[in-house]
Amino acid sequence: MKIHVRTYGCQMNERDTESVVSMLEVKGHETARDEKEADIVIVNTCSVREKAENKALGKLGLMIATKRDRPGRLVGAMGCMVQRLGERILDRVPGLDFAIGTERHHRLGDVIDRVLAGGGPVVEVEEDRELLEHAEELTGHVAGRPSAFVNILFGCNRGCAYCVVPSVRGRERSRSAESVLAEVAGLAEAGVREVTLLGQSVMSYGRTNEAWGGGHASPNGFTEPLARLLEAVAGVEGIERVRFTSGHASGCTDELVRAMAEVPEVCEHLHLPVQSGSDRILKMMRRGYTADDYRAAVARLRQAMPGMGITTDIIVGFPSETEEEFGETRRFMEEMAFDNAFIFKYSPRPGTPASKWEDDVPAEEKMRRNHVLLEDQDRRGLALNGALVGSAVEVMVEGVSLRNSSRWSGRTRSNKIAVFRPENGLASGDMVDVVVEKAMAQTLYGAIRNVDKGE
Ligand code: 5AD
Ligand code: SF4
Repeated sequence: MKIHVRTYGCQMNERDTESVVSMLEVKGHETARDEKEADIVIVNTCSVREKAENKALGKLGLMIATKRDRPGRLVGAMGCMVQRLGERILDRVPGLDFAIGTERHHRLGDVIDRVLAGGGPVVEVEEDRELLEHAEELTGHVAGRPSAFVNILFGCNRGCAYCVVPSVRGRERSRSAESVLAEVAGLAEAGVREVTLLGQSVMSYGRTNEAWGGGHASPNGFTEPLARLLEAVAGVEGIERVRFTSGHASGCTDELVRAMAEVPEVCEHLHLPVQSGSDRILKMMRRGYTADDYRAAVARLRQAMPGMGITTDIIVGFPSETEEEFGETRRFMEEMAFDNAFIFKYSPRPGTPASKWEDDVPAEEKMRRNHVLLEDQDRRGLALNGALVGSAVEVMVEGVSLRNSSRWSGRTRSNKIAVFRPENGLASGDMVDVVVEKAMAQTLYGAIRNVDKGE
């Protein structure tokens, strides 16, 4: 049958979509070219904000309505909202054929078989104690793409006051380094050149359970599990770039910074969500660092890797956030000179500590703070990128640009999108030097200097 998956939420979710699609292909299903021709439509849901849940619910409703004209079509849901709601998802989405939570994604093929065999909707969400052992079955990668995401850590133990993830994705469990390396080797053989190691709290890798068995020495003398993993993944034949996300200020140890700076394949980019520049709000958020701690982490990173890209997440309108505290965040962002920032309006999530506090910043005020920061970031992005005009940046070619089919695009090591004129013989996965001719807040435009096919 032909399948289509619509994804909401984070990179973790995108990666989960890739895995289930390739898993279903192995089972003999096909990927539909678009949603319209699909026999099975799956919505991969996100719970992080109410808006994300509402979008997924809206999409599911629309898809279920199409079943009237397409008897036999199946509509299912996967991901965080399913994990959060369990059986209750059936009340929220009448007509749903199946729902599978994040703990059970590896069982999607069986669930579809059971639905096809008849007997009504199937919901699976129970925690799977063997999830780590199934991680490799979840190996997934869209054929032909030079970059892939690899989960290394499931769950999160941090307990930020606003965040629903710990209750949805459960406690932290690290995959063994051995299974991660085997997966990366397989991906490299399939043509992958860049891997992004994923975890909600990726810097906690190997801290909650043993990830490294004996018998592996680190050539650079690293002892921390993530530093060792970055080094080992970088050493896999064929892998030219390694990234990891998301970071946390408290995890930027000297050794990790050294690993980023000294292992050539590790890219000079870190997504380091700060959430707020106000110490009082950070404390209420239970982030476990102050603005000064964050400052110190960024200073260490920039000192070791001048010119590295640092991006962040900000929440505006957290309960009791004053105008003055919002101003602190604004000034802090300017001081940190973030290359990019994702701004979120606070929304209370069921069961979180913050949901018990009054959501007292009015919606229009959250909107205004959101706009102010977005405009600031646009100005800042333009200035930072403008400074790159005339210089050459290393770009890994991804393919034809989404916005302009006569251009190709890729990413710099600092994770900026670069758009350029294609040359004959250019292929996705190639590394090229692009001389920047023009810069916008989010994108660099330029021309290729020379093609290095790595031969
Ligand atoms: N309200 C608004 N934004 C949130 N985020 C997480 N939880 C919430 C919430 N309840 C944001 C954080 C996080 C990003 C993925 O989503 O900024 O880093
Ligand atoms: Fe990703 Fe969190 Fe959204 Fe789940 S709830 S998709 S882990 S952002």
